[in-house]
Amino acid sequence: MNQGIRNFNFQNPTKILFGKDRIKDIDAEIPKDAKVLVMYGGGSVKRNGAFDRTIKALGEREWDEFGGIEANPTYETLMKAVEKIQQEGFTYLMAIGGGSVIDGTKFVSLAAVFDGDPIDIMGGGVGRQLPVSKAMPFGTVLTLPATASEMNNGFVITFVEKKAKIAYGNPLCFPQFSVLEPELTYTLPKRQLVNGVIDAFVHTMECYLTYPINAKIQDRYAEGILQTLIEIAPTVIDEHNHDYPARANFMWAATNALNGFITPGVPQDWASHMLGHEMTLVHGIDHGRTLSIILPAMMRVRKQQKWDKLIQYGRRVWNLTGADEDIVEGAIEKTEAFFQSLGAPTCFADVELGEECIDELLAGLERHGKVNISERGDFDLVVARRVYETAL
Ligand code: NZQ
Ligand code: ZN
Repeated sequence: MNQGIRNFNFQNPTKILFGKDRIKDIDAEIPKDAKVLVMYGGGSVKRNGAFDRTIKALGEREWDEFGGIEANPTYETLMKAVEKIQQEGFTYLMAIGGGSVIDGTKFVSLAAVFDGDPIDIMGGGVGRQLPVSKAMPFGTVLTLPATASEMNNGFVITFVEKKAKIAYGNPLCFPQFSVLEPELTYTLPKRQLVNGVIDAFVHTMECYLTYPINAKIQDRYAEGILQTLIEIAPTVIDEHNHDYPARANFMWAATNALNGFITPGVPQDWASHMLGHEMTLVHGIDHGRTLSIILPAMMRVRKQQKWDKLIQYGRRVWNLTGADEDIVEGAIEKTEAFFQSLGAPTCFADVELGEECIDELLAGLERHGKVNISERGDFDLVVARRVYETAL
């Protein structure tokens, strides 16, 4: 397996405007004659001032708003934005929010200009996945460090009627620019701060905890993100501690965990995310909380396949020493204990779920074609059952 870094193309066109008081600078990023639809969620951005500051930065441009994008954004809600855009002729989208608002905006950017029925954009058992050739341009103001949606081309949409949560990526879906103001995290409740730390941690693990191919930069970059998150987490998750340096490191760590910098030419897993998405879909568990439940179980079940990387992870990230077996066990225990120290659930019982829910989760994986996944393509429904059972 140790064949070295694989061939890769790499391009990330998103411009980042990072730091204090950066929203005003979006004026220079959006065409003066744009008609802007401002997209947001349940209202946090109106309460913390991000909405008003964005409108001010739009200056004389024509604009309107589309609110109510829910956590785990739905196709059904987003299609209402598509209808508004097509009726009223908007030319630019401005997302203000966390991963859900930004993901939803990405889908809308494709759906609003799609030649055909937008249900056919994403496939995944809900439509046909037809080729997509254009997107409406958009920018973002990030309010929740977690997904890195502000600097990647992926998004995840829930289809309520079809009972599916589908991930999709398209090079047309990079934001043109994203504003990263760490101070916008000051209004986040502890639960969302914890979710963000875990999501960023697990994104890094999905790209790192596979098998070694001697990709030294990607490995050490990933280990740096993991160590940073471990170091700053106790400060970051204290919602009353508005420690700017810690929040700034948190925001940039989460962006780097999934903006493509740690993945060029390396194997990736993503099985924890796929198992977690089914839990969100059926039981409404927050994305981050599904991951703190699944990852430790995944590490236990996939110990042999991930053996070499587990040793590297244990040694370099947790500074463990001793026999290989002890390092592997120690690395898994340290990871679980880290999640518990944040107050995150690490088993089904912690979110009041039991064995009776597993069959439905597996049926969802099968229905959405999430079989033979992972870095080796050998993660089938039998293994998925073992992971869910180990997480009980
Ligand atoms: O809706 P509002 O009122 O804005 O409240 C939100 C929401 O209730 C609140 N919030 C956000 N910023 C806030 C704030 N509250 C106070 N102050 C602020 N500054 O937080 C709640 C959760 O927001 P959400 O956007 O749902 O969280 P997150 O950023 O964790 O996004 C989760 C979604 O992203 C997808 C997930 O599956 C899920 O649907 N993912 C997207 C990825 C990507 N695009 O690359 C990768 C991820 O693995 C993930 O799957
Ligand atoms: Zn995630």
